[in-house]
Amino acid sequence: MEQKINSNLHNWFYAGLQYAAWQIKGKDIEMESILSVNNLQKRKGKKIILKDVNIELHRGEIVGFIGANGAGKTTTMKCIMDLYSYNGNIEKENIKVGALIEEPCFYPYMSGFRNLKIDSMYYKDISADRVDELVKELDMSQYIRQKVKNYSLGMKQRLGLAFALMDDPDVIILDEPMNGLDPQGVMVLRNTLKKLAHEKNKAILISSHILSEMQVLCDRFLFIKDGCTFEEKPDDNLEKKYMEIMEEEMDLCLNL
Ligand SMILES: Nc1ncnc2c1ncn2[C@@H]1O[C@H](COP(=O)(O)OP(=O)(O)O)[C@@H](O)[C@H]1O
Ligand SMILES: [Mg+2]
Repeated sequence: MEQKINSNLHNWFYAGLQYAAWQIKGKDIEMESILSVNNLQKRKGKKIILKDVNIELHRGEIVGFIGANGAGKTTTMKCIMDLYSYNGNIEKENIKVGALIEEPCFYPYMSGFRNLKIDSMYYKDISADRVDELVKELDMSQYIRQKVKNYSLGMKQRLGLAFALMDDPDVIILDEPMNGLDPQGVMVLRNTLKKLAHEKNKAILISSHILSEMQVLCDRFLFIKDGCTFEEKPDDNLEKKYMEIMEEEMDLCLNL
């Protein structure tokens, strides 16, 4: 009997410790912003693409970046990666940012493995077994020795993700990474991203039109419309929220 009480006390004590750790972890996530985009603006010719884009990314979270086609998601991501010039401020000092934006360039007549090895040479301090590690982590061993020209779109997407993760970045930017993935591929990607954010404390910004997947994957949602970003809490139905936000635009389209 006494032993049972002791064991219960031990369990309660342990649960208390876990709760405290969770609280501290929660606080850390709340406090530590590692990438911040302030009043980002971008023009292309006379057209204003981004008017006022603001993004705050914290360690340990997956942020869904949502908007209609042409809303400016890819443009925003390219600005973050310094692929475009812009006005405004992007703070990302002392952190590493990896990205998969559109289709990366591969050497089609080389294997995925060779492509990864070549990519690894662009970074210093990459361990000799980093490529093997990534192949295992992203479940690519079945086809990694085949030539990339024979890869499906989904295989290329996964190889692209490996490129983005090569340098073990603090922030990972992914533009429509689910495109072309089969359901198993989507599930592997979901588990990989959740592990990266929630266990390895990375910050992830991801865009996708697959709202059902975004709902189960993301911790919060940032919408972009008319060149401006705003955060929305979707309650329990992201698709419904998206329709509400886009309603105005759709009404205009239907009236044409
Ligand atoms: N090279 C370009 N020149 C001019 N306009 C462009 C170019 N690329 C994209 N745009 C325009 O920029 C806007 C935002 O595009 P994009 O960032 O690709 O949107 P999203 O990724 O949200 O679909 C669109 O209106 C698109 O027509
Ligand atoms: Mg895009």
